[in-house]
Amino acid sequence: MFDHRKSRYLLSEKAFTKISIFDQRSNVGGIWNTDSRSPAADIAAYPSPIYHDMESNIPTEVMRYYNNPFPPNVPLLPDAGQVLQYLRAYAEDVIPHVEMKLRHEVIDVTPLQRNRSTGWKLNVHALANDLFLEESYDAVVVANGRYNKPYEPAIPGLDKWRTQHPETVLHSKFYKSPQRFKDKKVLIIGFSSSGVNTANAIEPVCAKPLLISQKSGDGLSPGSKGFQEGRFLLPPVIEFNAEDKTVLFADNTMESGIDYVLFCTGYEYEYPFLSSLPGFELGGGEGNTKTYQYIFHIDFVTLSFITMPLRVVAFPFAETQAAVVARVWSGRLSLPSYQDMEMWVNKTTEIRGPGKAFHKLSYPADADYINEMYDWCQQARAENAEKFLAPPIWGERERWLRRTSHDIRRATEAHGKERFAIKSIEDAGFHYSEEPTAKPLEEYKPKG
Ligand SMILES: Cc1cc2nc3c(=O)[nH]c(=O)nc-3n(C[C@H](O)[C@H](O)[C@H](O)COP(=O)(O)OP(=O)(O)OC[C@H]3O[C@@H](n4cnc5c(N)ncnc54)[C@H](O)[C@@H]3O)c2cc1C
Ligand SMILES: NC(=O)c1ccc[n+]([C@@H]2O[C@H](COP(=O)([O-])OP(=O)(O)OC[C@H]3O[C@@H](n4cnc5c(N)ncnc54)[C@H](OP(=O)(O)O)[C@@H]3O)[C@@H](O)[C@H]2O)c1
Repeated sequence: MFDHRKSRYLLSEKAFTKISIFDQRSNVGGIWNTDSRSPAADIAAYPSPIYHDMESNIPTEVMRYYNNPFPPNVPLLPDAGQVLQYLRAYAEDVIPHVEMKLRHEVIDVTPLQRNRSTGWKLNVHALANDLFLEESYDAVVVANGRYNKPYEPAIPGLDKWRTQHPETVLHSKFYKSPQRFKDKKVLIIGFSSSGVNTANAIEPVCAKPLLISQKSGDGLSPGSKGFQEGRFLLPPVIEFNAEDKTVLFADNTMESGIDYVLFCTGYEYEYPFLSSLPGFELGGGEGNTKTYQYIFHIDFVTLSFITMPLRVVAFPFAETQAAVVARVWSGRLSLPSYQDMEMWVNKTTEIRGPGKAFHKLSYPADADYINEMYDWCQQARAENAEKFLAPPIWGERERWLRRTSHDIRRATEAHGKERFAIKSIEDAGFHYSEEPTAKPLEEYKPKG
């Protein structure tokens, strides 16, 4: 299926006769169609992990599409509604030039031949009139998002706990507000963005200390352990005991009488419409590691994936990959041989690890990737390069913004409601120079 953002780059090549975008939702914007802003049918079928007052955790200057700044009145860290508006405005230029098929669920994507440059048959469910359609395309971009299916680690005793106390185990996808945790003993498992966000909201209301179990951080913030003000940071849970609601941690610490367990352990990859694809290895929701540069399926180069990597900034990252796809499929850029692509996959697996680890491009890997793909795009054949849409390139300022984004978020939160007036990093108290001098974090008090 095509996504509107990726279509801009395909359109810029002027090499494709028809571009169709299928999305099961009723409107553009993916998961930024938060529950409070979606039509009722969408809310029930596709609950969003983004709740209505969630704010961005990345400054607009790096979160944005490369050539599309957010409007000047938008705060440095916009809320979900402002991001949705931004996405819809971006899509306005694209929609008139493509075949837009909203409320169309892609059920199955099958290769027409068993060769690397095969065309594809799509089985699609037109939800509005409950019809099943068959369509064929020369190439398919898979851009179905990676935050749909919650991941929870398989920990001994968890199934029994859930059976005995079903209301007490939740995943952050379904977290909306801290109310139910008032004066309760709460354990948060996973301490990346969702864990940090929910901990900040729950800690002021729950019984102290809030228990937080972490494996690793998110690659930007330093990991810490032990008691901190209001919270107790613990290692991973190794056992649940439903009888007395006790939990055992990897360092043999034990906590009893736990009222709620909130998994903030992220998501599994999910490609149900590719289940009939020969050789497609999902590895238990751990992503497709048979892709060259995380984009092209090495067995079927007419099948590409957008924003599969984790810990990246989605919008510019999608543009980067879209620029590569558009250049390769228009014939202006060539892919290496099968052997070389396979070698890239094997080497990357060796360096990063298998499964989910293969996909983790925590800073600075995300920034390096954006610039490597930019360099690759520069090799595309073109008589007049200016007429093609350029991919993003990140300079020192973007890299600094990326690695400082957590500090910026914490600094703006310390301004309480006044934070909505913060429109620039300078408003937030930060200054970029060749030798960056951000205000030391100690000057800020976390929210709550
Ligand atoms: C809680 C949370 C907060 C986040 N906050 C930020 C942030 O502050 N800043 C930031 O830059 N990023 C943030 N992200 C990352 C976010 O994922 C990206 O911003 C962006 O939404 C990714 O876009 P996407 O198009 O890849 O996926 P999605 O937004 O998930 O869109 C995928 C679309 O594909 C459709 N689809 C899926 N399967 C099918 C099918 N079979 N048939 C038809 N359509 C289908 C879905 O309906 C959906 O509309 C956040 C993510 C989460 C989970
Ligand atoms: N705008 C916002 O404010 C906001 C809020 C929430 C989320 N988000 C975005 O949403 C996306 C998903 O974020 P997320 O935090 O939900 O998922 P995530 O980034 O995948 O993080 C999941 C965390 O759970 C940990 N974990 C996994 N298994 C564990 C275990 N057994 N015990 C303890 N910890 C375990 C992981 O550690 P390992 O990495 O070591 O496996 C990781 O730190 C990200 O793009 C994020 O930026 C944004």
